Amino acid sequence: MSLLRTKSIEQSIADTDEPEYQLKKSLSALDLTVFGVGVVIGAGIFTLTGRAAHNVAGPAIVVSFIIAAICCALAAMCYAEFASTVPVSGSAYTFSYASLGEIFAWIIGWDLILEMFLGASVVAQGWSAYLGAFLGKLGITMPAAISYGGVVDVPAIVLVLVLGVLVTLGIKESLRVNLVLVGLKLFIVLFVIFAGIGFINPANYTPFVPPAQATETTSGWTQPLIQFFTGAAPSTFGVGGILAGAALVFFAYIGFDVVATTAEETKNPQRDLPIGIIASLAICTVLYCAVALVVTGMVPYDKLDPSAALANAFGYHGQAWMATLISAGAVAGLTTVVLTLMVGATRLIFAMCRDALLPMGLAKVHKTYRTPWLITLIVTIVVAIVAGLTPVGVLEEMVNIGTLSAFVLVSIGVVVLRKKRPDLKRAFTVPFSPVVPIISALICAYLMLNLSVETWLRFVIWLAIGFVIYFAYSRSHARLETGVGIRPDMQQAMDTGHAPKSPTEPGPTEPR
Ligand code: ALA
Repeated sequence: MSLLRTKSIEQSIADTDEPEYQLKKSLSALDLTVFGVGVVIGAGIFTLTGRAAHNVAGPAIVVSFIIAAICCALAAMCYAEFASTVPVSGSAYTFSYASLGEIFAWIIGWDLILEMFLGASVVAQGWSAYLGAFLGKLGITMPAAISYGGVVDVPAIVLVLVLGVLVTLGIKESLRVNLVLVGLKLFIVLFVIFAGIGFINPANYTPFVPPAQATETTSGWTQPLIQFFTGAAPSTFGVGGILAGAALVFFAYIGFDVVATTAEETKNPQRDLPIGIIASLAICTVLYCAVALVVTGMVPYDKLDPSAALANAFGYHGQAWMATLISAGAVAGLTTVVLTLMVGATRLIFAMCRDALLPMGLAKVHKTYRTPWLITLIVTIVVAIVAGLTPVGVLEEMVNIGTLSAFVLVSIGVVVLRKKRPDLKRAFTVPFSPVVPIISALICAYLMLNLSVETWLRFVIWLAIGFVIYFAYSRSHARLETGVGIRPDMQQAMDTGHAPKSPTEPGPTEPR
């Protein structure tokens, strides 16, 4: 079945040596960890913590963060195993191509395009909103028509264009700017934790789990899919509220998977990718739980500001300058999220072009900067238009569904690849496989069911567009179809379950 054809790991790795498509190998484990923290800590912690505590979980939001972290940790281990086995750009897309087959690889690549393009656009608008709030605190007001929520969101467009130039200049250069901004962001988060401790009133932790209460029935498009099917009455707070909170704050963890997209630019990917993925997730989990505990201790949960809880918790205690400082930190913090999602999008499309599922010509790297400049240009223009001209801010759930579907397939892929290619060297292995990967897939699928009916509908439409492109273009152009640059001995490895005898010898390839 050509839909389920797989690309051999050996072939994927050999592709990365072709000079035309070679990226610069410059990243260390520390770079990757900074990259991970840079993309993970963002709108989630700065805004969602307050909203989730106020609306659904109360002080028990810290438990929601722990549950979401467990879900992500399971998926992160699966990503780490894959990344240490297939150190090639493209993350979950490349993993699926090696394990589940081309059609799944296409679906996941298409989903990740959704995650990263939409994620970058949504967070660019969030950045613009925070910038407006920060300037407002300084007494500067921008004309409404050209700021967040206006006709054209000029700050969001300018941000995306500047970041697009940075991404073109080089990943190391992007990461240097990232390093400064991530440092600033960590300082702000630690500031919230340590400055906030002094304002904690233990009475705010009671009740820790507010009693469950029925809510007005959400109906139609906005109810969760699972509720649509089961007809269960919705409630907030209580144990259900903790779980709903976990589904909501899952967004705050999104991004550690993007670390895997930079595999080819890592000096020692087998060792450093698992470290980068797991370390960034661990750091963020500790910080998130601490922030959640402090903020819900500072302000009674029902008085938390659902849109800017971190800054306004200090405003609540009369500390205006601290609130301003935190808004400024949020502006810096969200910048790195947009930057990293844009880098991830370019590297993913790069991998898809190199396999000719998208036009190969786009994947040429720049002679001087050795970055995929053409793809970067396209990503920058699309994200700038979406962030600047559309009300995309309401579509965060689409980012979640794209990410969760990738997590499900990566988890299943680990089990499949172990069966198909037990011979491969795995620098990192998920413990208790297949139990842990299966639990990971089930938890992610459960969270997906908690997303709204309208999100699912949009997702299905997005997938349908993807299928049209796949059957009209990608399937017939794929290198596995045309055989361009494909070594048959390497491909056979997937069928026989054994590595080719001499993977370093040049094999028979067809002319380009
Ligand atoms: N995890 C990222 C954020 O919180 C997407 O903004």
